[in-house]
Amino acid sequence: MSRVDRTHLQVLRLLKEKQGNFVSGTSVASRLRMSRTSVWKHIQNLRALGYDIISHPKEGYNLREIPDLLIPEEIVPHLETAWLARTYCHYRQIGSTNDEALLLAAQGAEHGTVVVAEEQTKGRGRLQRSWFSPARYGIYLSLILRSPLPILEAPQSAMVTALALVKVLHENYGIEASIKWPNDVLVAGKKLAGILADMQSDQDYTRFIVIGMGINANHRERDLREPFRYPATSLAMELGTPVKRQDLLLHFIHRFETEYEHFLKNGFGAMLPEFEKASAILGKQLRIQSGREEISGRALGFTPEGALRLLKGDGNEEVIWVGDVLRVEGSYDTSLSLQR
Ligand code: BTN
Repeated sequence: MSRVDRTHLQVLRLLKEKQGNFVSGTSVASRLRMSRTSVWKHIQNLRALGYDIISHPKEGYNLREIPDLLIPEEIVPHLETAWLARTYCHYRQIGSTNDEALLLAAQGAEHGTVVVAEEQTKGRGRLQRSWFSPARYGIYLSLILRSPLPILEAPQSAMVTALALVKVLHENYGIEASIKWPNDVLVAGKKLAGILADMQSDQDYTRFIVIGMGINANHRERDLREPFRYPATSLAMELGTPVKRQDLLLHFIHRFETEYEHFLKNGFGAMLPEFEKASAILGKQLRIQSGREEISGRALGFTPEGALRLLKGDGNEEVIWVGDVLRVEGSYDTSLSLQR
């Protein structure tokens, strides 16, 4: 895990001020009141992180390229949040960010702690599925949330997360995404992001919730050609050009904090109109796996608690609290495709 180092950031800031040009080691040393040997050590550390810095005996150091990594050096200085990501944990490779966040939360990690990885070797999806998490293409993050919620309301956190991402995609990338209840984010019917909520609770209230999200950011078509449960897409595929993952992550962190505060203050009911507007299934004929049961019907809407209101063939309405949409009329049949 890497945490941010302050002096490191100061050296980096000075190099960035003159990116593409040389900065002398002496000027960095005098501005930061450190020895030239310390500057050199920081440069070595920055190089080890992936910064492309060339050195010249007379001219000093020249920062040529910043790595497209979600390292704290590129995220923390840009945070404008009150509580989210004030603790930011980054890993080059990890089993699962959700597993790590659960561990950190159990050890007392603060509300708003964010765990991010470049690659996951055991990325988990809902319902014991795995989540394809190749190095650098995606964003794999987990958020630790400690505001106690009545257990029944906990799944709403994941829905708020989906809504936050839909807003980022619209506002920052001009992409119209939708939400397949409860919390898959789709673009043109293909899955762009998945959300997995884990939690610890007592009988009535959550102690903490870990919200994990995987976003297909820069996957190319050939990366997503393998059989998946759902047809998948990425932001780069939709835009026709790769995105800067650092920006995407920062947009999401900022938007999530706003949306989650709105949710805590006003409840999910206040977000229901937006959630319904973003819904990929509203008014559609569905087949749903809910526990051991398979239920078919038309999606009428959602309750203020975030449950799905389904109109069944016999004319009765059923409220579904947890489930997995297997089929949407005129769309994919996920039950037939291979699981990953
Ligand atoms: C799903 O659609 O089934 C949910 C996928 C959630 C994947 C994310 S990636 C970051 C976090 N860590 C995990 O192991 N899973 C979630």
